[in-house]
Amino acid sequence: MFRKRTAVADSVEARGARLADEFDRAADRYDLLTRLNPGYHDALRTAARALVSLLPRRPDEPLVLWDLGCGSGLSTRAVVDAAGADARVLGLDASAGMLSRARAKSWPAGVRFVQAFAQSLPDVAREHGVRDADGAFAAYLLRNVPAEQRDDVVAAIRDQVRPGGWVALQDYHVKDRRVATAVWTVVCWGVVMPLSVVVRGNPSIYRYLWRSVVDNDSTTQLRARLERAGFTDIRWRTATGWQRGILHTVLARRPGTEPA
Ligand SMILES: C[S@@+](CC[C@H](N)C(=O)[O-])C[C@H]1O[C@@H](n2cnc3c(N)ncnc32)[C@H](O)[C@@H]1O
Repeated sequence: MFRKRTAVADSVEARGARLADEFDRAADRYDLLTRLNPGYHDALRTAARALVSLLPRRPDEPLVLWDLGCGSGLSTRAVVDAAGADARVLGLDASAGMLSRARAKSWPAGVRFVQAFAQSLPDVAREHGVRDADGAFAAYLLRNVPAEQRDDVVAAIRDQVRPGGWVALQDYHVKDRRVATAVWTVVCWGVVMPLSVVVRGNPSIYRYLWRSVVDNDSTTQLRARLERAGFTDIRWRTATGWQRGILHTVLARRPGTEPA
């Protein structure tokens, strides 16, 4: 899907590769900067626990979960902590630099990481023998996928989750909310970008962060994408503290049940 050699796909692919390079350059300081963001880790943990609490369990079988856009493994840690050390978790990310940070951490035996674009999810699932996952987690991923590819990626995520399984998507959504957009802009330009200079992170990725969130789907647009993909039982939560009304988690179920 992502590898098609059309003029449009080439330019989208080039943008994806450039973004992965930017994340490579940010990888060294990524964990440090997230530690300075009050609520970042709590929000990941809360979303991962909410996802796992909804998953129907198969008797005597460990949970199988995707962590899409797993980055340096912070979201993977939240998923593993929620799902248990016997869970099988496949973290996928486009950035080699972020993945090398993730791989350097200590993980239970069922955790693996793969470098790939989310747009290639069906190929990755085939290559890695992941079928019928119980759930998928994607924190801060979809905004980084070009808008014209988001419906396809949401549909691919649905296809990787078994009937009755759930997905959790977490990200910043401020579109159509004036106060949330203003708070987001002040936090990014007044705190995040100066901090990224102080800790010698990669300031350009944080300018991109600001812009990509301002341009990101509104919650209404994301809900429509989930509905177009056939998800049901769509539930929203927002965060506490400065992220209230800015950071959102949406949980959605793939309809159906597996034959007994
Ligand atoms: C802001 S980080 C979030 C990492 C992790 N989920 C967390 O919560 O800490 C976003 C990650 O998405 C990855 N990413 C961006 N676009 C992607 C794509 N199209 N496919 C796969 N990964 C992508 C980046 O490389 C980056 O590691």
